[in-house]
Amino acid sequence: MKIYKAKDYEELSRKAASIIASQVLMKPDCVLGLATGSTPIGTYKQLIEWYNKGDLDFSSVKSVNLDEYRGLTRDNDQSYYYFMYNNLFKHININMDCTNVPDGTQSDSDKECSRYEDVIKSLGGIDLQLLGLGHNGHIGFNEPDEEFAKTTHCVNLTQSTIEANKRFFASIDEVPKQAYTMGIGTIMKAKKILLVVSGSDKAQILHDVLSGPVTPHVPASVLQLHNDVIVVADEAAMAKF
Ligand code: F6R
Repeated sequence: MKIYKAKDYEELSRKAASIIASQVLMKPDCVLGLATGSTPIGTYKQLIEWYNKGDLDFSSVKSVNLDEYRGLTRDNDQSYYYFMYNNLFKHININMDCTNVPDGTQSDSDKECSRYEDVIKSLGGIDLQLLGLGHNGHIGFNEPDEEFAKTTHCVNLTQSTIEANKRFFASIDEVPKQAYTMGIGTIMKAKKILLVVSGSDKAQILHDVLSGPVTPHVPASVLQLHNDVIVVADEAAMAKF
C-alpha cells in the first residue's frame, strides 16, 4: 500500500487526478471505477481542467460507478447518475454509452445486481477503482456488517444515513430507503485502488482502516489485503499517524 500525504484538499485532488490521468495515458481504453460524494469532486475538476487543456483524451475510456439509490431516475438531481453526468461526464469526451451506473429504476434487485456484475465482467474488470471513505469505514454502500459482501447487491440504508440525507430532499419520505452497490468482492477485484480521504473528521476512521484489524465492522479495512492500493489523504485526515 502506498500512502501519499497531501497538504490540503487542493493538493489531494491534484495528486488523485494525476494517478487517474496516468492510468488513462497508459491505457486509453481502460475501465475506471468511479465514486460520487464530496471528496472526488476536486479530482474530477482537475481532470476536466487537464482535458480542457488538451492533455487528456477520454474517448476510449469505459466507466463503472460504485453505487446508485434504488428508486431514483437518472434525471433526479440526487441520483448518482445525475452527479456523475454533471460533475464529470458532460465536461469531457467520454462516450456516454460506455459509462455505467447501476439502474436505480430497476425494481427487480437481483436481476439488476447480476446484470451489473456481468457488465463489469464483460468489460474485463476494473483497471482503477476510485473510492471515498465513509465516517463508519464504508466503501460504496457497504456498511459495517458481520461479513464482507461479495458482489453487487441491494442494501437497506440505515436510519442514520436516511436522516443524514434528508436535507437533500423535500421530505424524509422522499429519501430512498435502499441502494444498489458493488460488493466488497467486486471492489477487491479491481487491479488498482485509489482511496481519497479528506478532513479531520475522517482521521480516526482512516487510522482504523489502515492500522486496525481487517474486519467487516470496518469495511474499508479489507483494502489492507489488496496488493495495489494508493491512499491519497490530506494532512487533516492523516492526523492520527
Ligand atoms: C460514493 C460512495 C460513498 C462515499 C463515502 C464518502 O459513491 O460510494 O462510499 O465515497 O460516503 O463520501 P464523501 O466523499 O462525501 O465523504
